[in-house]
Amino acid sequence: MSSLTARRQPPAVPVSEPALSPLLRPARTAARYAVRHGLPARYLARAARRGDLVGRLLREPALRDHPYGLYEQVRAAGRLVPSALGLVTASHAVTQEVLRSDRFGVGWDRSHVPGLVGWALRFGDELDASGVAERPSMLVVDAPDHTRFRRLVSRAFTPRTTAAFEPMIRRTADELLDDLAVSAAGADGPVDLVDRFAAGLPVLVIAELLGVPTDRREDFLAWGAAAAATLDTGLPLRRYLAAERGLRAMHAFLREHFERLRRDPGDDLVSRLVGLPGEEALTERELHATVMLLLGAGFETTVNLLGNAVVALDAHRDQWDALRAEPAGWAGAVEEALRYDSPVQLTGRTARADVELAGQRVPAGTRVTLLLGAANRDPDVFADPARFDVTRHNARDHLAFSAGVHYCLGAGLARLEAEVALRALTERFPRLRVAGRPARRDLRTLRGFEVLPVSLG
Ligand code: HEM
Repeated sequence: MSSLTARRQPPAVPVSEPALSPLLRPARTAARYAVRHGLPARYLARAARRGDLVGRLLREPALRDHPYGLYEQVRAAGRLVPSALGLVTASHAVTQEVLRSDRFGVGWDRSHVPGLVGWALRFGDELDASGVAERPSMLVVDAPDHTRFRRLVSRAFTPRTTAAFEPMIRRTADELLDDLAVSAAGADGPVDLVDRFAAGLPVLVIAELLGVPTDRREDFLAWGAAAAATLDTGLPLRRYLAAERGLRAMHAFLREHFERLRRDPGDDLVSRLVGLPGEEALTERELHATVMLLLGAGFETTVNLLGNAVVALDAHRDQWDALRAEPAGWAGAVEEALRYDSPVQLTGRTARADVELAGQRVPAGTRVTLLLGAANRDPDVFADPARFDVTRHNARDHLAFSAGVHYCLGAGLARLEAEVALRALTERFPRLRVAGRPARRDLRTLRGFEVLPVSLG
């Protein structure tokens, strides 16, 4: 197979899934698709035609690859701007205030949504098709559940635990780079750095950290791509169905994995979660949501950081060379890559009560879309923000990992992986160049490359 063929094919051998009525499953899928994607897609397309900035951002194909011009239009319109999806902000200060405020939450109460939409939401709710941003994933629940889930897993992500993974990360990176050299030697043209390196490293690291079998790496990548797609709103039907197949396969794998660990627990985080005693025990659904989030978030974002960083560094060769000469600069370079082209471009919060924000009264229940990628280019915080500068003194003030109680649990791990990986890559292949047109992933919430052709020099 060519090294540039798309990665992440659905797994060849589906894992067994629990029996569901042959009629019920398609009906539930249809209900889920309609309320989560079909109707929002139409609504947003209509808003985009009216010129609504969020509608355009989420629907216009060209803005997927080049959102930064539109972000400046949002910024020019004000610090907090009405949109088809509530309010939207490109301001660093407003984004940070919302993320840190307990007057805003991630959850919204679906149980009272009236009429057909409410019914479809409830009817379509199914564990085996649920994605990483669906309840009870900690990403989308507020305290006290959020506090409970986060406490159970945070021990595996302390600075000390993370640092202990450095030798393993370096070893894995070196092995992948050995394979990359072999692929390049056997290829006629460029090799795909995403397929051969950037995607492989984070998935192997998180699998090792969670104690899930690393030999399922190709399956995880396929399932993770499905999980990543469902972070977006308004997917076309065919893409949604493919994503749902991936999610079902991932849940089926997790169910079998949990069973294995119940019979034969190991010394890993998932074994501990499966075996929690008494009142601490997680329900089956909580267990699936927690492990799926850790696994998916563990690699679907870091791959984007690596790809975005390589492309930015390739376009600023003097900085690449300076980092090779002075590797102490890598930590700052990773922060600048996170700021300049953020792997997670947007998130949102809902006002839990009537609040005052950016001089406006925001009624309870209002959704606020937070453009993290735009906040990270706010000229009030970052001088000349569209310039990539690995020596920028305050790059670390970015909000690429969010802020407040949902601040990325894996931020330390992602930073370490990126530092080790980029340093190893540039040491090993100092003349590596982007060779050909990189292709972006067809995603809006996440931003990264699907294919990144490089020559090793
Ligand atoms: C460059 C890589 C990464 C980026 C840019 C990133 C970004 C983010 C962001 C923006 C959020 C919060 C979203 C919000 O506030 O609505 C988040 C949450 C989270 N991230 Fe990451 N992440 C990365 C890597 C990782 C890794 C390696 C893990 C490891 C498991 C991880 C696990 C999590 C978890 C569990 C949450 C939910 C935290 C909570 O809700 O309390 N992330 N991440």
